[in-house]
Amino acid sequence: MGSRGELHGLIFSSALLLLLLAQPLLVFSAGPPFACDPANPSTRHFRFCQTRLPNDERASDLMSYLTLDEKIQQLGHVAPAIPRLGVPNYKWWSEALHGVSGWGRGVRFNGTITAATSFPQVILSAASFNPDLWYRIGQAIGVEARAIYNVGQAEGLTFWSPNVNIFRDPRWGRGQETPGEDPLTASKYAVAFVRGLQGDSPTGERRPQQLMTSACCKHYTAYDLDNWKGISRFSFNALVTAQDMEDTYQPPFKSCVQEGRGTCIMCSYNRVNGVPTCADFNLLTLQARNAWGLDGYIASDCGAVDLIYGNGYAKSPEEAVANVLKSGMDLDCSDFVQKHAGSAVRRGILSQGDIDRALFNALALRMRLGLFNGNPRKLPAGNIPPSQVCSKQHLGLALEAAQAGIVLLKNAANLLPLARPKVTSLGVIGPNADSGYVLIGNYNGPPCTASTPLGELKNYVADTRFVRGCNSAACDNAAINAVVGLARSVDQVVLFMGLDQDQEREGLDRVDLVLPGSQQHIITKAAKYAKRPVILVLLTGGPVDITFAKNDPRIGAIVWAGYPGEAGGLAIAQVLFGEHNPGGKLPVTWYPQEFTRVPMTDMRMRADPATGYPGRSYRFYTGKPIYEFGYGISYTSYSYKFEAEAATSIYLNTSLAPRTTANSHILSYDIASLGSDTCGNLKFSATVGVKNQGSMAGRHPVLLFSRWSSSEHGRPMKQLVDFQSVHLEAGESTKVVFPLSPCEHLSRAMDDGTRVLDKGSHYLVVGQTEHEIRVIS
Ligand SMILES: *[C@@H]1O[C@H](CO)[C@@H](O)[C@H](O)[C@H]1NC(C)=O
Ligand SMILES: *[C@@H]1O[C@H](CO)[C@@H](O)[C@H](O)[C@H]1NC(C)=O
Repeated sequence: MGSRGELHGLIFSSALLLLLLAQPLLVFSAGPPFACDPANPSTRHFRFCQTRLPNDERASDLMSYLTLDEKIQQLGHVAPAIPRLGVPNYKWWSEALHGVSGWGRGVRFNGTITAATSFPQVILSAASFNPDLWYRIGQAIGVEARAIYNVGQAEGLTFWSPNVNIFRDPRWGRGQETPGEDPLTASKYAVAFVRGLQGDSPTGERRPQQLMTSACCKHYTAYDLDNWKGISRFSFNALVTAQDMEDTYQPPFKSCVQEGRGTCIMCSYNRVNGVPTCADFNLLTLQARNAWGLDGYIASDCGAVDLIYGNGYAKSPEEAVANVLKSGMDLDCSDFVQKHAGSAVRRGILSQGDIDRALFNALALRMRLGLFNGNPRKLPAGNIPPSQVCSKQHLGLALEAAQAGIVLLKNAANLLPLARPKVTSLGVIGPNADSGYVLIGNYNGPPCTASTPLGELKNYVADTRFVRGCNSAACDNAAINAVVGLARSVDQVVLFMGLDQDQEREGLDRVDLVLPGSQQHIITKAAKYAKRPVILVLLTGGPVDITFAKNDPRIGAIVWAGYPGEAGGLAIAQVLFGEHNPGGKLPVTWYPQEFTRVPMTDMRMRADPATGYPGRSYRFYTGKPIYEFGYGISYTSYSYKFEAEAATSIYLNTSLAPRTTANSHILSYDIASLGSDTCGNLKFSATVGVKNQGSMAGRHPVLLFSRWSSSEHGRPMKQLVDFQSVHLEAGESTKVVFPLSPCEHLSRAMDDGTRVLDKGSHYLVVGQTEHEIRVIS
């Protein structure tokens, strides 16, 4: 009896202990709902729950249980639960452009986790020209996303990032979200960020077991106009030449899919040459799925399918749904397919097979994320705790990224860096100085920390005084007297000007390139009355025409800091006081205001001298930029030389006949006809010696361009072919080896989009240094 009572007591107390232990876990981290619970006898026998089987087989098995209507309901971004199969609902739409974001529908910040690390807006990270950094940012975001999922605050792990459209026009409100105007940079960004976010290795080895998250390259394709003078992305028809398509608009998507193994691309709102991209069989199926080998799903931009009917491209909702599903789109970010696919099937314009194809791609992806493997806590990523979000390591990375991107545009008489003890009082002026919000751009999440440039500068100079000067970046209300008063009274003036999300954002392109409102007036007045030349810090995504500041000797230094993320205030202060040597380079051309006479709707990259069309980007723009692509100085200087071991000729061992371009004596070889064997044998490398000639250590991106001996017939004036970021101590030198493939890096796109390699001289260019290399046969 006694022993029984004891036993009873023991069971009771251990149960109580378990309950007490379990309690905090239950309260603080409920975890996500999950399919294939091994404890659920009614679902665990399903073949789709058997983790030993291939994901594709499991996806097919799950489909076999679904009615047509259930299948259709799974094709919207809110995919409902299927209780009889133990399948919870799934939210496809989440965002993670530069940190896990609350802009989608799948992630909530209202539980244990209330913030996520806010890395710099992409345009600034791009300015580092450092793929290793981009990879680590993607990786950190993937870890934070899993941690948020693990505590039950995410109903999905599909992130519709990155945005790798070409920043074609300086007025584009979403240019800030992109890696800039250069197709090679955008391609390398796509590859590095996607590998990081999906949990693959930096060199592309797939993560064993589940994808960490699924990344999505958007917006496919030739999408880079939001809303300009009444012309909207929702109905814009982008007229794109085959040549521009091949060497400008498509490369980032191709790289995302082929090298980055991105598991999703998103078709865009706009039409390309008359056809809405989500209804373009050629773009979706022939190009992305078949030619590039997309292994994943194709999502629509949100509401894009509705618009195919709404804008009259399709005559009925059913026809719109049939168009997109037959073209190869899989998942509708809307409920349009869910509403109209059933009647499209009944009308006979859409088959069950079309629905099955799309559904298979969607379900197989959910399998690959491990969402049908039972308790997600048991997955390899299931033990990533909330402490990984906003961790010291991730905040350190956010600071490193902001530092790495900041571009020094002007530094007359070495005004910068400031010597801390010498600055007895600091006058901070401008609407962008004391806002944490402006630092984090768009597609942001709640940042972990609240910091502003003004707040950080106060830690450097005790006597720091602030005048906002204007109400906001719009600056339609300037407090000139206060600005002048402060400028007169302090030792050093720093102005924080530029743009904000009311000037450039999704749905809002600019019409001007100059600084808004009275900003120029404020800056000029402050400079006029200040004791010493002033420092101008610009927070902008897109470029601004600041010719006045470039030419004004009383504006001694200009710094571009993009939207630098939550650690950006500190990074700027560190740059101003010389604790970090700036090494960023502009990822876009800074055009003059006169560029605004070019219609934003003109998609052509190449100049057309006959009509005065100046062309776009450093590759084709024939005007004089304010600052050119790749520009950026630092507190030291670097010299370059091509090393003797750099190849001087490339022998094309082919019996293939070269072709001539009309009116040209230059012979060219067709890349496709040369074939991958011949091309593969042509690889060579260029070695560039780089020396830090100054007295301060720094990180420095080395940009390698190629140019042709002529820029006729649509050849770019030059073309970035590779870049590497090196860290050099004062006086230190190093050799940077660039592996190159002539077929890839020295080729060019013809009018019809085919690629050719010109015979004869090509030039590799670093800074002002050139190296000739001849293609002979
Ligand atoms: C967070 O928001 C979601 C969706 O609005 C809601 O269902 C959930 O109960 C909220 N959680 C908390 C802890 O407030
Ligand atoms: C050129 O190619 C031919 C046939 O493939 C081969 O026999 C020859 O050795 C090659 N010549 C050189 C210089 O590589």
